[in-house]
Amino acid sequence: MRNDDERAPLSIRSVGVVGFGLMGSGIAQVCAQAGYRTIVREVAQPLIDRGFGRVDSSLARIVKAGRMSEDDAKAARARMHGTTELADLKDVDLVIEAIVEEIEPKKALFAELDRLCPERTIFASNTSSLTIVEMAAATKRPDRFAGLHFFNPAPVMPLVEIVRAITTSDATIATLRELVASLGKTGVVCQDTPGFIVNRLMVPYLLGAIRALEQGVATVEEIDTAVKLGLRHPMGPFELLDYTGLDINLHVANVFFDEFKDPSMAPPPLLKRMVLAGRLGTKTGKGFYEYDEKGQKKSSTGTR
Ligand code: 3HC
Repeated sequence: MRNDDERAPLSIRSVGVVGFGLMGSGIAQVCAQAGYRTIVREVAQPLIDRGFGRVDSSLARIVKAGRMSEDDAKAARARMHGTTELADLKDVDLVIEAIVEEIEPKKALFAELDRLCPERTIFASNTSSLTIVEMAAATKRPDRFAGLHFFNPAPVMPLVEIVRAITTSDATIATLRELVASLGKTGVVCQDTPGFIVNRLMVPYLLGAIRALEQGVATVEEIDTAVKLGLRHPMGPFELLDYTGLDINLHVANVFFDEFKDPSMAPPPLLKRMVLAGRLGTKTGKGFYEYDEKGQKKSSTGTR
C-alpha cells in the first residue's frame, strides 16, 4: 500500500464551506476571491441570504477602497453558491467547517461528510478552541484532516493557522500550505493544542483586561485607550472582546481552563455574567460598549 505522505499535494479547485455565519461567510468570500468554485451550506435559506448580505457588503467595501475592480467582485460573487443540502458538497476538493463551536455537532457533520465525499477530499475545521484530532477520529480519513483557523474579519486578516493533528499527513499539510498561499494569506503551521498560537496568547490577555476592570484599575475606555496607544493595537481588549463575541470568549476560556487547569485561563465572573445577561458584544448591540444597527460603537455600557 502507498504511504499517504508519498502522494503529491492535491491541487484544489473547489471548496465547500459549512456554516455561513460571520466566519463562514468571510472564509467563503476569500476562497471565491482567489478563484475557487465555492459552495456554502447552511441549514435554512434565510441564513444563506444573511450570509450573502455580509459577503456583498464586504465586497462593496473592498471595491470602494479601490482594492478590487467591480468586475472582479462580480466574478467572485458568481463563483459562490448557497445550498441547504450537505450532499451538494460531495464533489468538492476541500471542506472547511465553520459551524457552532461545539464538538458533538462538528463530529456528526464530519461523519456525514465522510460518507458523502470521495477519499481525496480534505476536511478542515475553523475551530478556535476544540481539538482537531477528536473531529478527525469521527472520520475514516484522519490523515486528510487538519485545522484551518482564520481570523475575523477573514477578508482582511492576513493570517491562517494550519493546525496539524497527530494524525494529519505531511501531504495534507503541504496542500493546505499551498491553498493558504493562493488565498493571499500567510499560513503558520502549529500543533493541535488548545488555542493553537494566537488564541493561546490572546485569551489570557483578554481575561486579564476583564480582571483589571473588576479590580477597578481603570474604566473600559481607559484600558482600551492605553492598549491602543501604548501597544499600537488596532483595537483595545474590550473592543476586541465585543468584536469576537463574549460568548465565544467565555467558551474558549472554559475549554482552556479544562485543559490546562491554569488560573490565568479561568473565565472571570464578570464575563460569565455578561453572557448570561445576553450582552454578547457587537452581534447583540451590547457588550462592554453599545452599538447601533450598523455595528458602530455608540458608548460604553459603564460595566464595572
Ligand atoms: N470586509 C472587507 N474589508 C474590510 C472589512 C470587511 N469585513 N472590515 C474592514 N475592512 C477594511 C476596510 O474597508 C478598510 O480598508 P482600506 O484600508 O483599504 O480602506 C480596512 O479594512 C480598515 O477598516 P476600517 O478603516 O473600517 O477600520 P479599522 O482601521 O478600524 O480596521 C479592523 C478594522 C480591520 C477590524 C481593525 O480594527 C483590526 O484589525 N482589528 C483587530 C481585529 C483582530 O484582532 N482580529 C482577530 C480576532 S481573534 C480571531 O478572530 C480568532 C477567533 O478564534 C476568536
